[in-house]
Amino acid sequence: MKQLSVEHLLGIKYLNQNDLELIFETATHFKEVINRPIKKVPSLRDITIANLFFENSTRTKLSFELAEKRLSADVINFSAGQSSVKKGETLIDTVNNILAMKVDIVVMRHGNVGAGVFLSKHVDAKIVNAGDGTHEHPTQALLDSFSMREALNSNLKGKKIVIVGDILHSRVALSNIFALQMQGAEVKVCGPTTLIPRYITSLGVGVETNLKKALEWCDVANVLRVQHERMAIKYFPSTREYTQLFGINKEILDTINKDIVIMHPGPINRGVELTSDVADSKQSIILDQVQNGVAVRMAVLYLLAQQIKR
Ligand code: CP
Repeated sequence: MKQLSVEHLLGIKYLNQNDLELIFETATHFKEVINRPIKKVPSLRDITIANLFFENSTRTKLSFELAEKRLSADVINFSAGQSSVKKGETLIDTVNNILAMKVDIVVMRHGNVGAGVFLSKHVDAKIVNAGDGTHEHPTQALLDSFSMREALNSNLKGKKIVIVGDILHSRVALSNIFALQMQGAEVKVCGPTTLIPRYITSLGVGVETNLKKALEWCDVANVLRVQHERMAIKYFPSTREYTQLFGINKEILDTINKDIVIMHPGPINRGVELTSDVADSKQSIILDQVQNGVAVRMAVLYLLAQQIKR
């Protein structure tokens, strides 16, 4: 039986191309399962999973929880806001107390870069990074690539993908870059220069500051949210100016002479990064991304659980 090359899912940068193909193959199987009238399989019946969310989430938290339930795992949920973290408990103490309840897999979102790597060195459970600060969001990148392959009906070798928006504060951007390049895609970023990190070209990523040129170049535009909550200073003069230069609307799509695929990891600032007529158009696969997220997370959890001695 094929296995992942890693013991935890901490970031796309720790995976290889075979891992990606194995995850996509397994997710294709689970996508078929969740479209059946009976959507549940007993694969993780004796596995307990803790979802630890130290940062807000709608999609990722619900998607993991549903994936776990579809696999028949036992699930416990933890949100930092209602926990003893507020009383000063450390991350390791919090997690070790949860693991004392015999938890096999921890899915964690945390505001600090490297929180998942840190935890994996100190606790005895499989760790899945559900987003660590501005660093990586590996399952988002996996579901994004899976959705692009589905929309283009092809693997991503030679495909041109532009990531538009707030690259500087985005964990989705970095994980996407690693995943897309591993599959042979060409990647550019587009946004205000203040929101594009200087190191980006050293990753082999192109930079385009003209949105129309970026859209004319690409097969897929993965549009990111402006992360106001991570901005201590102003990175552009006004939201209105940002939208004029980097917001995607029907008018700009009509000026390019091809149908590109539009994606967004959510949550969308409607009218800022995307107008509603684009977000809800036939070109948009935003809700397919959400649906595929469950299948991809089932695949990741299933493959990691195969490594647990029972
Ligand atoms: N895409 C994403 O991570 O969304 P949430 O923050 O709602 O989980």
